[in-house]
Amino acid sequence: MKNIILIGFMGAGKTEVGKLLAKKLKMTYIDTDDIIEKEQGKSINDIFAKSGEESFRDMESAVVDGLADMKDHVISTGGGMILRPANVKKLKKLGPLVLLWANPDVVYKRTKGSLARPLLNVDDPKKSIKNILDFRMPIYRKVADLEVDTSVLSPEEACNRIMAYIKGDK
Ligand code: S3P
Repeated sequence: MKNIILIGFMGAGKTEVGKLLAKKLKMTYIDTDDIIEKEQGKSINDIFAKSGEESFRDMESAVVDGLADMKDHVISTGGGMILRPANVKKLKKLGPLVLLWANPDVVYKRTKGSLARPLLNVDDPKKSIKNILDFRMPIYRKVADLEVDTSVLSPEEACNRIMAYIKGDK
């Protein structure tokens, strides 16, 4: 089977839904942020602080290159992965892009208190969430093959929605 690619903003539930989905479909879960952290031997925070966001985006693109020919994986991507059209093009070859989405209030509730996300580790995270979402939402929507709103669905329900789509998609 092809892969399922999860895209979407921080706090949209990619990790939780992705792991559950992989279990249900007997696929392997991977996360592009985890791959980068392992390869670099540094946290995402350290990479942003020491090398800057652009270097991190280059690392993301390199990870996508390394995924070519992959099968049977649920691939969770960092929230900014779709910012580079070349990444989107390569990911689309690997499987459908499923957008997990949550409204800004839900994103804020889910991400507050975590220091692991440099883009939200700022004085006014609510404002950042809104600003980044406003910019990215049209891109997420444009590239997505399926949209799932996790503000209103449980992880279980989100998986069911994705599995129904996959069945119909074969
Ligand atoms: C980012 C999202 C993060 C991580 C990095 C940048 C973004 O991943 O890649 O902090 O630009 O939205 P998650 O979406 O998995 O939190």
